[in-house]
Amino acid sequence: LREDSPVLFDDAQEVWHVFRYDDVQRVLSDHAVFSSRMRAGREPDQNHLFASSLISTDPPRHRQLRSLVSEAFTPRAVAALEPRISEIVDELLDRVAGTGSMDLIDDFAYPLPVIVIAELMGIPAEDRDRFKRWSDIVVSQTREYESSPVRASAQQEMAEYFFAMIERRRRDPGEDLISRLLAAQVDGEHLSVIELLGFCALLLVAGNETTTNLLGNAVLTFAEWPGTIERLRAESGALPSAIEEVLRFRSPVQSMFRVTTEDTTLGAASLPAGSRLAAWIGSANRDGRQFPDPETFAPDRRPNRHLAFGQGIHFCLGAPLARLEARVALSALLARLPGLSLAPGAPLERIDSTIIFGPRALPV
Ligand code: HEM
Repeated sequence: LREDSPVLFDDAQEVWHVFRYDDVQRVLSDHAVFSSRMRAGREPDQNHLFASSLISTDPPRHRQLRSLVSEAFTPRAVAALEPRISEIVDELLDRVAGTGSMDLIDDFAYPLPVIVIAELMGIPAEDRDRFKRWSDIVVSQTREYESSPVRASAQQEMAEYFFAMIERRRRDPGEDLISRLLAAQVDGEHLSVIELLGFCALLLVAGNETTTNLLGNAVLTFAEWPGTIERLRAESGALPSAIEEVLRFRSPVQSMFRVTTEDTTLGAASLPAGSRLAAWIGSANRDGRQFPDPETFAPDRRPNRHLAFGQGIHFCLGAPLARLEARVALSALLARLPGLSLAPGAPLERIDSTIIFGPRALPV
């Protein structure tokens, strides 16, 4: 498709699919022509909660919302979380110590980002299981929950929980993200309760399953490409660029949606205003025009201008956090599990989603 139909109209879904690096980059970054606004009535119900959050808004509102929340996610603010992330990683590995095997997803890659976000938001430890259940249901794209009452009620429960939490923090502020967002102002305005709820839901959706799949994809890829694990153990400085290459080679977010605000052209295609597009990040990241030998996992690939975190004004707010979690988690796995390898014979199945990409389970 990338070679023969780089911009392809899909009649059934009424979506233009975009596959080449240059085109995907333009769609993600030219926000005046390719809008992120939610298309009312066409999206699955899970989007309603964050329809007014920054991922679904254009400037000028996007700029205001982003400046309100970005302080909490600067590389400096995130770096301060490293000792706590290390502790959580160690606790998770202590639980499986001595057993000789684990499911890397269920036992490690899944709980880690949920616990980190829950702590950042000030969710008490005793509520974490509920938080995890909502997160799982809300992020599931095409799994068993699709358009089911289970998802509707999970969303409702989650909204009520966050609502009560926001009210509590309003009366009794702490150091957590929700308290800081309540206090933050831009152009003399606070976030509305709906915007706050939307942001909490967005953090759950945008931050959890993505990081889980980065970790799963990393271990799978390191184990599949001979010599990688040994090399990463021997050269401690090699991990960050190997993580970037995993982001390129097996991108946790495969596609993002946009809608055109005016008539435009993309490659040879003419797109009328109001066209919906799926920009295929996963395909762009394997485009040989940008990446020599794109089907090879090259842990020290440079330059590596992958689009796994998007580009332009919507560039992933959580990228510094995701990178930090991945570095801390993967270096602990390499150091503490000397026999780390895939369990022989275990079938490899990908999660059932067209947007999020990674293994459903990974016995190691
Ligand atoms: C935006 C990927 C982790 C929060 C994005 C976008 C991508 C992405 C592709 C751009 C969306 C667009 O252009 O429409 C990823 C990947 C992650 C990850 C691959 C992990 C490996 C996180 C984490 C958080 C987070 C840990 C927060 C804790 C966000 C937010 C946005 C965003 C809030 C919206 C930014 C905006 O619209 O201005 N992410 N993400 N992400 N991400 Fe991430």
